[in-house]
Amino acid sequence: MPLMHQDLASRLVPPAPGPAGAASAAHAINPRVPGIRSLHSPGPTRVPEAVMHAMQRPMMDLMDPRVGALIRACEDGMRALLGTRDAPVLFYAANGHGMWEAVTANLSARGRALLIAGGGHFSDSWAMQTEILGQATGTTVLRTPHAEGHPTDPAAIEQALREDKAHRIAAVLVVHTDTSSGITSDLAAVRRAIDAAAHPALYVVDLVASLAAAPFDMDALGVDVAMGASQKGLMCPPGLGYVAVNARAMAFAEAHAGPRFYWDWVRRASDLQYKKFCGTPPLAHLAGLEAALQLIAEEGLANVHARHARLGGAVHAALARWGMGEGAGALKAFCKVASARSASVTAIEITSGHDPEALRTVARERFQVAMAGGLGPLAGRVFRIGHLGDMNEATILGALAGVEAAMVVQGIPFGEGGVAAAARFLVDATAARAPAAAAAAATAGDAAGTGA
Ligand SMILES: Cc1ncc(COP(=O)(O)O)c(C=O)c1O
Repeated sequence: MPLMHQDLASRLVPPAPGPAGAASAAHAINPRVPGIRSLHSPGPTRVPEAVMHAMQRPMMDLMDPRVGALIRACEDGMRALLGTRDAPVLFYAANGHGMWEAVTANLSARGRALLIAGGGHFSDSWAMQTEILGQATGTTVLRTPHAEGHPTDPAAIEQALREDKAHRIAAVLVVHTDTSSGITSDLAAVRRAIDAAAHPALYVVDLVASLAAAPFDMDALGVDVAMGASQKGLMCPPGLGYVAVNARAMAFAEAHAGPRFYWDWVRRASDLQYKKFCGTPPLAHLAGLEAALQLIAEEGLANVHARHARLGGAVHAALARWGMGEGAGALKAFCKVASARSASVTAIEITSGHDPEALRTVARERFQVAMAGGLGPLAGRVFRIGHLGDMNEATILGALAGVEAAMVVQGIPFGEGGVAAAARFLVDATAARAPAAAAAAATAGDAAGTGA
């Protein structure tokens, strides 16, 4: 028998079952996944077919006018999504860390400081990266204190700015949604804090986990720099970073030349394509982004936000049940402030001593629900259900059912009825929307002269 056939034959023999609950032995990785594996990592998220097809488009020569049209469509679409009229949007072949580096490279200056608002694992990582880069440029990094399970504290930002009498702080850097804890901070409150301190610092926001999931309006919020990446709410594969830089932030970068080239905003804010991208544009990613922006426009941005709020609410409703009855106290929302629970991801703390990583393995390999684990200080304490991007009611209910099944396998105590509570929440949320939608349809019908 040829080797290939032998391989196939051996793969047709089912693997021996392992001991119950022993995730690694019992759930050998099988390359074939029948049906759809439900991806509930908070990034990368599911990439819709329309985006994947767009990315398969043949390459173009860089002088082809379609290249310029593609870039313009992405720039205009992103400006609309970010809520900015004039800030240029710059794209990089980079992930979120790359965009952090772009911020640091352009806003560093000898003798100046960057204030990073404490908000969880991602602001800590941003601060660490900025501290290392700051050593080379003579830029200090300051951090505000942060309480675990809570959003960023605007009062701590205001205090730090008030204490900075010499106005050394060049910018305040805030993570909108901390993906590790599922907590969304109040960006308007941070703006008020900066204003209350009457400090001229630039306002920089990390939207990696929140754009196209939670509302954001760059101009209305007075945000000077907004940055993020493609792999979450934007429904694209990882690898495309964006940053919108308003005139005030661009002027700062212009006035403070530094050791930067690829990241340089001033160079990139050019009409010349080879400067805009510092070389060859990432055409496939741009084509994917154009398709994703089209999908968002078709659904309507307000509907996209409402859907995320609804699906997030369903997960929160399930979690409330899981923490009740027999399972009381074994599962808890990591976010301690209900109004700060993110529309993108929910971090669930297991306090019964069970291993969240083993739960994830069972959920993924046996029930086809892929979730995320704990990061940094939350490793081994939480598991996270992502509910952002290309998702709907069925995907969320399926994921919650898969998580419940995996918790049964792992012997994790939990209150019954989580999936039912989520379904109830979705029914009620849809009913609450129905009268408004019917009224809008009736008005449209009247306007068109088709009302009954
Ligand atoms: C809020 C936030 N900022 C930054 C990053 C870093 O992004 P990347 O992993 O693409 O480098 C992440 C990653 O998940 C994130 O969630």
